[in-house]
Amino acid sequence: MSQRPRIAVIGSANIDLVSFVDQFPKPGETIFGQKFDLGFGGKGANQAAAARLCGAEVFMVARVGDDLFGPATILNFQKVGIDTANVKQVAGVSTGVAPIFVDPSGQNRIIVIKGANDTLKPADVDAAAETLKNVDCIVLQFEIPLETVYYTIQFANKNKIRCILNPAPGQPIDVKAVANLDYFVPNESEAETITGMPVRNLEDAKACAQKLLASGIRRVIITLGSNGSLLAGSEGMEHMPAFKVNAKDSTGAGDAFIGSFATFLGEGLPEKEAVRRANLYAGLSTEGVGTQKSFYDRTRFEAEWASRNKG
Ligand code: RIB
Repeated sequence: MSQRPRIAVIGSANIDLVSFVDQFPKPGETIFGQKFDLGFGGKGANQAAAARLCGAEVFMVARVGDDLFGPATILNFQKVGIDTANVKQVAGVSTGVAPIFVDPSGQNRIIVIKGANDTLKPADVDAAAETLKNVDCIVLQFEIPLETVYYTIQFANKNKIRCILNPAPGQPIDVKAVANLDYFVPNESEAETITGMPVRNLEDAKACAQKLLASGIRRVIITLGSNGSLLAGSEGMEHMPAFKVNAKDSTGAGDAFIGSFATFLGEGLPEKEAVRRANLYAGLSTEGVGTQKSFYDRTRFEAEWASRNKG
């Protein structure tokens, strides 16, 4: 590892309420599920945890509610070793929560109730400016107000800080407002929502990445689940295949990709190696249940990376 990256995540923290089910109830019907898991989640928090577990110094900028989940979330950040000077509790709102349903194939369906995440405003970015000006990379997602995301991209651009946006959950956006980014990293369904183009296979993903590049975004990575990821820039596109894993629960795999990619890139690894490593880090996270609790630490990851790259 050449240098220890300093990464700020400006984003969400949720409590994940994960139900493992064989099927979904019809309207008016009650059915039994298989099991339940409660965990710390939220795309921002997950990405921060992945970056920290990979070895980065991580600064979280987030809002939690004044319910029992709020202090527990802050404590969880601290246990993982994430700086919480800019994580505040907001009176009168709930902490973000995410009821999640995982089917027997490991595929998930998620509903997010944003709660306190929706109160994170551009003024809060300004309040954290001194910390933010000293990081190497800012990581953003879409579980906080879009105005805060757009404002932070301008902030990163003005202060020449690398900026990675994971546009999740997918929603229609002003693509020009995100054109100054370094990396735009949607999954297939987010890329579809944003461009209006179907992404059912690699060829679709390439066409979609082309449209995003044409709109002024400099570098695009479309994550393709068990098909790896597509890296695209002005020089061309490259498909990075996934590693073989035994997937049980894919929840948080995209977050594992983003947090680990930000770290590997911040360490100075070549971009393609950073993407390949992030593919493996994300894949490994699907072998465990839950989000943050399924993420590998760096030592375990390096052992796995070495064994997958022998000879
Ligand atoms: O990406 C997975 C995450 O999406 C979950 O942790 C859930 O909280 C939602 O934000």
